[in-house]
Amino acid sequence: MKYIIEAQNIKDDYKNILERAKFFKEKNIYPTLNKSCALFFEEPSTRTRLSFEKASRNLGCETYYIQGNFSSSVKGETLFDTFLSFKKIGIDVVIFRTSDIMFDYEALLELKLGLINAGDSTHEHPSQGLLDVFTLLEKTHTLKNQNILYVGDIYHSRVFRSGAYLFKLEGANIGVCGYPSFIPKDYPFMDKVFTNLDEAIEWAHHVIALRIQKERHKETYNLESYFDMYGITKERYNKIKGFLMHPGPVNRDIDIDGDLLYKEKSLIANQIENGVFVRMAMIEYVVG
Ligand code: CP
Repeated sequence: MKYIIEAQNIKDDYKNILERAKFFKEKNIYPTLNKSCALFFEEPSTRTRLSFEKASRNLGCETYYIQGNFSSSVKGETLFDTFLSFKKIGIDVVIFRTSDIMFDYEALLELKLGLINAGDSTHEHPSQGLLDVFTLLEKTHTLKNQNILYVGDIYHSRVFRSGAYLFKLEGANIGVCGYPSFIPKDYPFMDKVFTNLDEAIEWAHHVIALRIQKERHKETYNLESYFDMYGITKERYNKIKGFLMHPGPVNRDIDIDGDLLYKEKSLIANQIENGVFVRMAMIEYVVG
């Protein structure tokens, strides 16, 4: 069994995973894996949870959902002991969303489970990064020398940390734009840093808007002035040369003008749809 905790775990294999996702989408032919998959989610989710569940069922896997905050982890059990219990009960693959970024994942590997990180706090979200690359490649065919701009709460974004790494492997340039306090100081995959969104959009070919993760902030923000400074308004949308993306959930009229979500240049609905095929390919990959 293999594992995908961070995007870098699949740096040599992500192309094959994307090819398989393309095959599933185009041919509608799915293998039957006959495995048992557990989805263990400690944080809320709509898209990731449901599309992993659909992906697992499409592959003929017995699929179990465990709501993390109703599991024995709330009584103090560690992730290792929880996952060991899954293993002993007969689970082959664990797809997990955890609010803990300090877990010892090297120890988890000893359990010889297939492991897929479905978002660990502010750290990584490899399936979202993969489906974002898949979705943009579907439209552009190459990302070499394309300027991809992430705008918003970069600091707290696990989507950004996985996506920027994978977009760089495709030869893209990564720009970030947000309040200075929203920009990480130590992340290596940022080619351009902007605090002015209009200048950033001039530079960008494609724009990925991110949600302010209010649940992770101690401070409060004036969301109206945020939208003026960093929101995708109709005027800014018209200036985007390529495509607009957002991993969801969208805060309408804060991240993006609500009228624009499913307009011509927006790939937001495509991202959701592609999530199932990419996650099927990820499950197949970890099962080996
Ligand atoms: N993009 C994403 O992770 O969405 P959910 O939180 O709804 O799963």
